[in-house]
Amino acid sequence: EKGGYATFMEKEINDQPHAVADTLLGRTDSEGRLALDELHISEDELRAVTKIVIVACGTAAYAGMVAKYAIEHWTRIPVEVELAHEFRYRDPVIDEHTLVVSISQSGETMDTLMAVRHAKELGARTVSICNTHGSTIPRESDAVLYTHAGPEIAVASTKAFLAQITASYILGLYLASLRGTAYGEDAAQVMAELATVPGKIEELLTRMDRVKEIAYYMADSRSVLFLGRHVGYPVAMEGALKLKELAYIHAEGFAAGELKHGPIALIEPGQPVFVIVPSPGVEHGLHDKVVSNIQEIRARGARTLVIAEEGDEDVVPFADEVIRVPHTSPLLAPLLTVVPLQVFALHLSTAKGLDVDQPRNLAKSVTVE
Ligand code: M6R
Repeated sequence: EKGGYATFMEKEINDQPHAVADTLLGRTDSEGRLALDELHISEDELRAVTKIVIVACGTAAYAGMVAKYAIEHWTRIPVEVELAHEFRYRDPVIDEHTLVVSISQSGETMDTLMAVRHAKELGARTVSICNTHGSTIPRESDAVLYTHAGPEIAVASTKAFLAQITASYILGLYLASLRGTAYGEDAAQVMAELATVPGKIEELLTRMDRVKEIAYYMADSRSVLFLGRHVGYPVAMEGALKLKELAYIHAEGFAAGELKHGPIALIEPGQPVFVIVPSPGVEHGLHDKVVSNIQEIRARGARTLVIAEEGDEDVVPFADEVIRVPHTSPLLAPLLTVVPLQVFALHLSTAKGLDVDQPRNLAKSVTVE
C-alpha cells in the first residue's frame, strides 16, 4: 500500500503530480471554460461577494495564504486568511456578501468546522475545499470543491497542500471569470499553465538526491530558518512546519522583507537558512530584493540553501547550495518550491531515525479543540 516506498510520506510526496493533475481534471468544459458543478451557490450570489475569508489550520492555512495572493490579483475581491481557531472566537465582520472558504484535507478538523458554523450563523456563504468525500465540513458547507489528492495517510501533509492550492486557484479563476475582471479572460491560459505543473513536479522529483544529502549532513542542526517573499512567504512557513513536525528541530519561516525588522539578529556563523527566491519574472523587483537578502545573511555567516528557478544565475555567488526548480509563472511557483522542503524534512527525519509517518504528539486529524 506504500507503493514500494519506505513510508507513506515518501509515497505521498511522489504522488504530487497526480494530486495536482487529478484536482484539475474535469474542471473545464470543451471550450476550456471553467465548469464547477459542485458549487451550489448561484452565479448571482457569487457576483455579489464583497469579501472572501479563508479559514483553515496548519498546512491548509498556508495553502490559504498562497491562495490570497492569487485570488486578490485575479478577482480584485479582498481576501483575508485566518486561522480557524482564532476566527471562531472573534466577532468578525461578516455578512451575507462574505464568502467564507474553508480548507481542510480531512474535513473533520474541529477548529475549522466550528469556524464554518460560526460563519454560517453570521450569514456568510460557505465553500469547503476538502479532500475527503462526505466528511463533516463539506456536508455542512453551502458548496464544496473537492481536491483529488487521494487518501493522505502520513500525519505531515504534503500532496493535500498542492491540491489545496490548485483547487483554490480554480475557485479564484472561476470568480474572476464570473466577475469579468481582466484576469477572468486569462483563466483558460492560467488553467493551461497549471496543466503543465504535474510534469514539472515529476521532473523536479527525479533530482532530489542532493537535497537528501544535505538533509543527512544537517541531521545535527538545532535551528533552521526559512525566508520567502510574496507567495514564497507561506512556503517558507510550510517548510518550517514540516521540519518541526518531522525532525523536531526548531524552525521558523519569515517574510524576507522582515529580516531587518528583527530576525537578522538571529544570523550567526553557520546558521542554516533556506531562501525561496521568487521567479525573476515576479513584479516589483522582488527577485532582486531577495537576492540582496541572501547576500546580507551570507555576509553574516549564514549557510544559505537557495531554492531558485533554473537559469537564475544571480543567486549563485551567494549560495552555499542551489536547489533548482523548473520555470513557472510567479503565482504557480509554490507548487514547485515547496517540494524540496518536504523532501528535506522527510530525509532529515529519516536520518535521525524518527517515525516519519507518525511524528510524536500529533494526530492526522485534530478532532478536538
Ligand atoms: O485535515 P486538515 O487539513 O484540516 O488539517 C489541518 C492541519 O491539522 C494539518 O494541515 C496539520 O498542520 C498537518 N499535520 C501539517 O503537516
